[in-house]
Amino acid sequence: MNDAPDTRKPVLVLNGPNLGRLGSREPDVYGADTYQDLVDLCRLTGEKLGLAVDVRQTDDEAELVRWLHEAADGRIPVVLNPAAFTHYSYAVRDAIAQRTAPLIEVHISNPAAREEFRHTSVVAAVATGTIAGFGLRSYVLALQAIAG
Ligand code: DQA
Repeated sequence: MNDAPDTRKPVLVLNGPNLGRLGSREPDVYGADTYQDLVDLCRLTGEKLGLAVDVRQTDDEAELVRWLHEAADGRIPVVLNPAAFTHYSYAVRDAIAQRTAPLIEVHISNPAAREEFRHTSVVAAVATGTIAGFGLRSYVLALQAIAG
């Protein structure tokens, strides 16, 4: 038995609506990897970087806001893909504005190269930074930024 306390830095990786359907959802845009592949990649990256990564997904705005409050209260860094909430959710933006640790906005695709409505991010201004357009590697780059 190992009773040693977990001294790794905690990180929340939070995913918004429809990201649980990766793999079957518009594979031409988001690739063939599944949501479980994303979870595995984030956990493996966390192990390599010495981070305790907790990966979550919700289609529910209220649940995402609660998780952002949890991160703010616990001073926990966040990698956040707000998905469609990026473009219109002032509730998610206001929750991010309360952050007490770095929060990196990530996107699998490059929203700036897509439809006009995706060109607006209402959360970017309150995030620490944004990484977009690198497929699932966007999450790896964000975790590296947090570890650094
Ligand atoms: C996304 C881009 C958003 O515009 C879209 O609504 C998503 C996914 C991305 O990861 O590329 O759901 O955040």
